[in-house]
Amino acid sequence: MKDPRVLIWREVLGFDRVWLPDSNKKLKLFLLEQQASKCKKCPLFRTREKFVFGWGNPYSGIMAVGEAPGPDEDKLGKPFVGRAGEFLNYALKEAGIDRERDLYIANVLKCIPVELATGTNGNPVALLNKYGKKSFRAPNKAEIAACSEWLESQISIIKPRFILAMGNPSVRYFLGDKVNITAVLGTPRKIRDGSITVFPVLHPSYIIRKKNPDLEKLYIQQLKNFKELVSELIPD
Ligand code: URA
Repeated sequence: MKDPRVLIWREVLGFDRVWLPDSNKKLKLFLLEQQASKCKKCPLFRTREKFVFGWGNPYSGIMAVGEAPGPDEDKLGKPFVGRAGEFLNYALKEAGIDRERDLYIANVLKCIPVELATGTNGNPVALLNKYGKKSFRAPNKAEIAACSEWLESQISIIKPRFILAMGNPSVRYFLGDKVNITAVLGTPRKIRDGSITVFPVLHPSYIIRKKNPDLEKLYIQQLKNFKELVSELIPD
């Protein structure tokens, strides 16, 4: 696990190094974002428009972690602002969870993973779908490994007691590659010496794609169960 303290560089403050007190999570995250947004650890920096770091309340003790930014997030630089985000907002509200107040939301990947095409100059460019948006694909293992430094640093700063893991890549990131997602959905599992409880749920995009009212109800019920689990941290 990384040291939860964040180094501030000479270029920001004019000192060699300064350690911030643990309580200043917002400033630490801001400084981390400044560093992370220049990231070139994997080829996705070539096709991203915006680096999507994370958003929300770092003091609630609860994180929600999705897969990766989609085309809308890539344009706006904020997680879950497209259709999946709209559905997530609705489902969270139904469950009595306020996205801005109760959660810090991030993704396993901070840049949109795209299918590639060849640009007019011969360089790789993001392939566009029939709606003119970047065509999203699932993150690969190398990208997840390269990007994990940023998620781990966010976790070290925020020190969440609970993580809502949304979708396959996120659930596997926390519970291991061999986990059978359907078997663990809605079942809290302690990780990292019991300091964090992970609550696995399906990805909101999957629920939208399926257009199945029963699945939607089940999803909202699981979020209500999550709310129950974290109730000591969330006002009624
Ligand atoms: N899907 C994700 O996993 N994350 C986002 O931010 C948006 C869509």
